[in-house]
Formats: sequence, C-alpha cells, structure tokens
Amino acid sequence: MKITVVGTGYVGLVTGTCFAETGNDVVCVDIDVNKVNKLSNGQITIYEPGLEKLFERNLKEGRLHFTTSLAEGAKHGEVIFLALPTPPGEDGSADLSYILRVADDLGKIIDDYKVIIDKSTVPVGTAELVQAAIAKHTTQPFDVVSNPEFLREGVAVDDFMKPDRVVIGTRSERARKVMGELFAPFVRQGNPILFMDEKSAELTKYAANSFLATKISFMNEIAILCEKLGADVDMVRRGVGSDDRIGKRFLFPGIGYGGSCFPKDVQALVKSSEDANYNFKILNAVMDVNERQKLFLMPKISAWFDNDLKGKHFALWGLAFKPNTDDIREAPALYMIDALVEAGATVAVFDPEAMANVKRLIGDKVTYAANQYECLTNADALVIATEWSVFRTPDFEKIGNSLNNKLIFDGRNLFDVSRMEELGYHYESVGRAA
Ligand code: UGA
Repeated sequence: MKITVVGTGYVGLVTGTCFAETGNDVVCVDIDVNKVNKLSNGQITIYEPGLEKLFERNLKEGRLHFTTSLAEGAKHGEVIFLALPTPPGEDGSADLSYILRVADDLGKIIDDYKVIIDKSTVPVGTAELVQAAIAKHTTQPFDVVSNPEFLREGVAVDDFMKPDRVVIGTRSERARKVMGELFAPFVRQGNPILFMDEKSAELTKYAANSFLATKISFMNEIAILCEKLGADVDMVRRGVGSDDRIGKRFLFPGIGYGGSCFPKDVQALVKSSEDANYNFKILNAVMDVNERQKLFLMPKISAWFDNDLKGKHFALWGLAFKPNTDDIREAPALYMIDALVEAGATVAVFDPEAMANVKRLIGDKVTYAANQYECLTNADALVIATEWSVFRTPDFEKIGNSLNNKLIFDGRNLFDVSRMEELGYHYESVGRAA
C-alpha cells in the first residue's frame, strides 16, 4: 500500500519504518529540512533499540523516502498518517495547532480519496475538527480515522510489529476496509483489531495511559505505607499482581513516572474532564502523588546527613526517564538533581544514553562522568534514578572503594536488601526495610 506519514518524530519514524518493513511504499514528511536531509542520508534521528537496522534496510531497498513537501506526500499516500506533536498548552490541554494546520493544508492539496489518520494522542473530538478543517477546502471524498498508538519507548518496534490490539475509530465502511487491510499483517497471532467510533478511540488512548499511571501511583502509595507499617512492597506487589484481574505489570514502585506521555496525557484528560464539567478526582490524586514521589528519596538523604547537604557530593546513576531511551522529558532524575543542588550539594551523573540531552538542558549544573564507576569518585553517596540493566549487577567492591561512605539511595529497587546488608552497605530503597 502507498502510505504517507506526516511528522518524523518518535511515533512517525517508528510508524513509517515499520510499515516499510512489511512491504509498503512509505513517504515521510517533515518541515524540518535538516532532519529530512539527515534521514534521507541514512542518519537516524532518534535512539530506539532495533529501529536503525530496519530503517537502513528499507531506505536502501527504496521503500522508505523522506521529503519536506506535504504536496508530494499527499499525492503519494492512499492513507496519510498524522504523527504530529500535541504539546500541553498553558492550561494543560493538548495544543492541536500542528495537526489542524496540516489538515488545513491537506484540504487544499488532496485530489483523490484519502484516508487521513490521527496517530497522535488527541483529545476527544479532534477527528471531527480535522474533518472540518479539511472539508473547508475540498469536495474530494476523504475519511478521518482515529488510530491511537500504544508504543512504549525502548520496545517500540516490537510493540508496533506485535501490538496487543489495534484500535481504529471510524464509522466509514470504506475507511474500515482500508485500515483492516493495512493492519492485518500485524495481528496474525490473533490479537484483535477493535473497530469503534472516532471518539471512543480517542478516549481509549487517554484512558489506557491514565489507568497505567494510576496503577503506578497506587503502588507508590502502597510502598509508602509498607515503610510506615513494616511490610515489604516487593512481597505485596507479587501477592497483588498474581491476581489475573490486576496483573503483574506496571506495579513497580519507584520515584515516579515520567516521559512524554503519562504526565501529559493524565493532565490532558483532567483538563478534558473539567471542560466537560466533571472533576476527575482519581486522576487529580494520581498527579499529586507522582509530583511528591519524584522527590521520595530526598527526606531519606537529608535525614542521613542531619538535614545539611551543603558541600556534600553525590553520584547519580540514570538520567533517562526509563531505561533503553535517551529521552529525559519529565525524568525524575532531573527533579532529584534540582533538589540536591538547591540543598547545596554537588552532583556527578552517568547515563548510558541520555548524557548529551541532559548536558544540552542543564549544562554545568552537574559534572558528567565517563562511566558509572568514575561517577562515584569522592561521592558521599550513590543515588539511583533509572533502572538501566548495566546498573543491576555492578561491582560492589569497586563501588565501596570509590564512595566516601558505603551508602546507596535507590529509587528503582535494583538490589536485594539483605544482600546489601551482607555487603556492609547502608541501602535505602522504596517501600522496603532499610
Ligand atoms: C507509555 C505507554 O506505556 C505506551 O503504551 C504509550 O503508547 C506511550 O506511553 C504513549 O502514549 O506514547 P512510555 O511513556 O514510553 O509509554 O513509557 P512506559 O514504559 O509506559 O513508562 C512510563 C513511566 O512509568 C516511566 O517513567 C517508568 O519508569 C514508569 N513506571 C513504569 C513505573 O514507575 N513503574 C512501573 O511499574 C512501570
């Protein structure tokens, strides 16, 4: 099938590449000339495990093209995906200006039946707005479909190739047939394609992310209670998660969720609810809990140093908002850095992928170590903010020899509490005995 993807950000690039990988002829459009040049020359612009190989192969085999011309893209694709940013506006609602501008332009360009698909996370009612923006300029037949994406950064290729489900919001039979054919290769194992109306599809995306954020915040509160009551959150998590109705996943407590999706989507759903005259109480609490959770380790750190962090030096492992990505948007590590520096401490950081992004954002607020062990030199304690695999089985002797104290504050529960005690560490984590 001939496919066009407008927007070569994270979602657009994964979508375009994975459709090319299944034999489709894909053109990706972006207004950023620099980016399009890079991509056309085989230089991938995001870090996502497994994507580069597919990108290079499909570029070489001529199934993947990049252009800055929307007209060229619109001419090419029978289906046109809109994978454009929807950043939060000042009031927390999603800013639709990028999407509506492209919709407006498409209305002026299309000269044949097109299926135009909202892939971005957009508030309920956006498909209608896109429909109206296009219809303003054309009498050509077209359908606007909502097809939210459920990719997780770090495992996006796998999530795209083998989705748990594909959600397609359209009431048009013609569009339904096109979309069914397009996604058939991805659901061969029997996972469902769920057809529904546009609004239900739009809300499904927000409901899914908000529910997962709720699950995490709930467990973060249980972790606090575990510490207060002397229970162990690892045990409680397993006990609870073994119930199929609850499930084992997304029950890991820590120093809060981050990233470009959960914080933004929870906020946007709260805003949509307010606009509909409804106070979504649970989600307001989820946001509050997450704000507090990002600094969960601070009182523990302060207490250890008698509430005086002036002149103390910390090593911090992990900057990305989660492992296997260089994405630092809403990363809890950044909040930790701010709090430590504000309290008068200095911080040396290490992350396998996200150092350059952090350097660009906060410059010399911290020092950047060449590796995880160098990071420890002269530090009074190690703080862990992201659960990268390379941090899971470190050389504890080396750590102990480098740090001034055998002291670790772990925001991701990487190590076994009793093992750390055996090794002579003072080890504090989330929801488990110190
Ligand atoms: C999330 C959803 O999982 C995807 O399904 C969705 O497509 C995507 O948002 C999106 O809307 O685009 P992502 O933001 O890549 O994906 O990351 P997740 O793996 O969901 O992690 C989000 C945050 O929750 C991370 O900060 C992670 O550390 C935290 N988390 C996750 C926990 O604190 N505990 C857990 O048990 C799981």
